[in-house]
Amino acid sequence: MSQDKKKTLSRLLTSSLLLHGLEAFAIPVKKSFDIDKIGTQESIFPFLAGAGPYFSYPENYGIPIEPPNKCELKQIQLIARHGERYPTTSKGAKLLSLWKSLQQYPKSFNGSLSFLNDYQFFIENEDVLEMETTIDNSVNAINPYTGEMDAKKHAREFLSLYEDLLDEKKEFAVFAASSERVHDTAQFFIDSLGSRYNVSLQTISEEPSSGANTLSAGYSCPAWDEDQYSNITEKYSTQYLIDIASRLNFENKGLNITANQANMLFTWCAYELNARGYSDMCNIFTREELIHYSYQDDLTSYYQDGPGYPLIRAVGSNLFNASVKLLQESEHLDQRVWLSFTHDTDILNYLTTVGLFDNGKKLDPSYVPFRDLIFHKSWIIPQGARVYTQKFQCENNTYVRYVVNDAVIPIESCSDGPGFSCEANNFYQYAEETMANMNFFQACNTSSVSNITDLTFYWDWKMTNYNATLLKE
Ligand SMILES: *[C@@H]1O[C@H](CO)[C@@H](O)[C@H](O)[C@H]1NC(C)=O
Ligand SMILES: *[C@@H]1O[C@H](CO)[C@@H](O)[C@H](O)[C@H]1NC(C)=O
Ligand SMILES: *[C@@H]1O[C@H](CO)[C@@H](O)[C@H](O)[C@H]1NC(C)=O
Ligand SMILES: *[C@@H]1O[C@H](CO)[C@@H](O)[C@H](O)[C@H]1NC(C)=O
Ligand SMILES: *[C@@H]1O[C@H](CO)[C@@H](O)[C@H](O)[C@H]1NC(C)=O
Ligand SMILES: *[C@@H]1O[C@H](CO)[C@@H](O)[C@H](O)[C@H]1NC(C)=O
Ligand SMILES: *[C@@H]1O[C@H](CO)[C@@H](O)[C@H](O)[C@H]1NC(C)=O
Ligand SMILES: *[C@@H]1O[C@H](CO)[C@@H](O)[C@H](O)[C@H]1NC(C)=O
Ligand SMILES: *[C@@H]1O[C@H](CO)[C@@H](O)[C@H](O)[C@H]1NC(C)=O
Repeated sequence: MSQDKKKTLSRLLTSSLLLHGLEAFAIPVKKSFDIDKIGTQESIFPFLAGAGPYFSYPENYGIPIEPPNKCELKQIQLIARHGERYPTTSKGAKLLSLWKSLQQYPKSFNGSLSFLNDYQFFIENEDVLEMETTIDNSVNAINPYTGEMDAKKHAREFLSLYEDLLDEKKEFAVFAASSERVHDTAQFFIDSLGSRYNVSLQTISEEPSSGANTLSAGYSCPAWDEDQYSNITEKYSTQYLIDIASRLNFENKGLNITANQANMLFTWCAYELNARGYSDMCNIFTREELIHYSYQDDLTSYYQDGPGYPLIRAVGSNLFNASVKLLQESEHLDQRVWLSFTHDTDILNYLTTVGLFDNGKKLDPSYVPFRDLIFHKSWIIPQGARVYTQKFQCENNTYVRYVVNDAVIPIESCSDGPGFSCEANNFYQYAEETMANMNFFQACNTSSVSNITDLTFYWDWKMTNYNATLLKE
């Protein structure tokens, strides 16, 4: 309410008995609070390249995620990403430098950037870079999208589905890669399970020297060349970025935002959502621009970390092989629930080997292949992503299936079991065929960084007690 209107109101009411009650309504709301903006931007989360807050897989086929009727759970595996976070050190530096150059603009901002005239940057100090967003480090007390809250809510949802399985053995291990934010996510999850459980958090080194005994095989893969297919990914038209820059520069005479800087504004939007709960920067894009941005990211990921790069199947086989082994041994292992936390790329590598998001059609850089696109990177690995493997028994048979971000994603060639699951022996055969002739250690040239050829931590954690030093990466 403007000062003038407020004055008029109080003059009218000066001698009124109602004064007290109405004055309360006239108390100006602290501007940074912005409560009515929270929650209004969720429809764009799927377009933010997996950098923005968690959302459930948008194309849910309608298959209930609970095990089918009369089926008994035998084992649950989880591979989860850390939660909502601040930008990495390198992205943070670019954002800070963009913010500094915007502050040099001598006039007040006009048009869609006018919110910058009264704005506080969302990275308040450099210590938060690389870190999970938490209740403590949020720039807004009512931010609903902290990594901390996401992990805690996830743990409660986990309990609502799988508590009985957990209660069979209240003492168990949880596994986290040695990145600090990954470790913190696991700890928030564990805290929220409650004090009934005695959980040992095993921190698995993600240094290259850990070789195959890792949740982050990509770091142990010197043969991986991210630019291998840049000849394809670079073909995607960046006209949409030029359009954004031109529009902002037209609205603000003398501003010289470049296409590269326009690209950084999407990053700004995504990470500000994680830190503040909303971002006015997100409102400068048209839907078309968001779709271009999102597809360009799918395309890049597909050829760098996914099905478009043949080496990736070998990288992901390190974890998939271990996962299959755990499934096969479920009746002999004293732990029924295997919870692991790591990075987005590692989950993407793993799912690439499993083959869940590959229809064999290579992503095309010359257009957006709307109908053929099942590799939506941001849908698969948003912040807080969670990939479950369920093994359950129905009558005399056991079955396996995947639940990705709250949606059952069937293995299409093996989905004739209850709840579109895959009969266990068929699943093992599928896995064997998928990984035939695959060798992570050789394909990755891992011997040049480590001597460790096997993933053993799920089996030897009690003896080893994994406690790797935490890294800010
Ligand atoms: C928790 O488990 C550890 C072994 O992992 C054991 O040493 C410890 O006594 C247990 N604590 C409680 C409170 O049961
Ligand atoms: C594998 O590592 C060796 C020793 O470091 C190196 O000479 C060779 O070029 C590497 N090969 C690949 C494909 O990365
Ligand atoms: C791109 O590069 C890869 C090898 O790095 C090559 O196999 C492929 O043929 C190239 N594709 C195009 C379209 O140039
Ligand atoms: C503000 O932007 C609008 C276009 O959105 C433009 O027509 C107008 O001239 C701009 N005003 C100034 C002062 O640059
Ligand atoms: C933008 O570029 C113009 C022309 O090169 C220059 O005069 C102006 O100072 C630049 N403005 C900013 C904010 O860098
Ligand atoms: C399950 O196995 C038992 C014992 O082998 C057998 O009697 C029963 O008929 C089987 N049930 C089904 C549905 O196949
Ligand atoms: C899977 O693990 C077995 C040992 O349990 C090993 O012999 C095989 O080579 C592994 N396969 C892959 C693809 O890692
Ligand atoms: C592998 O093991 C050998 C013998 O133990 C050692 O000399 C070598 O430094 C190790 N290599 C790496 C990369 O750890
Ligand atoms: C991990 O535990 C071992 C054995 O208890 C200890 O020697 C080592 O210093 C610990 N490392 C870290 C990083 O805490």
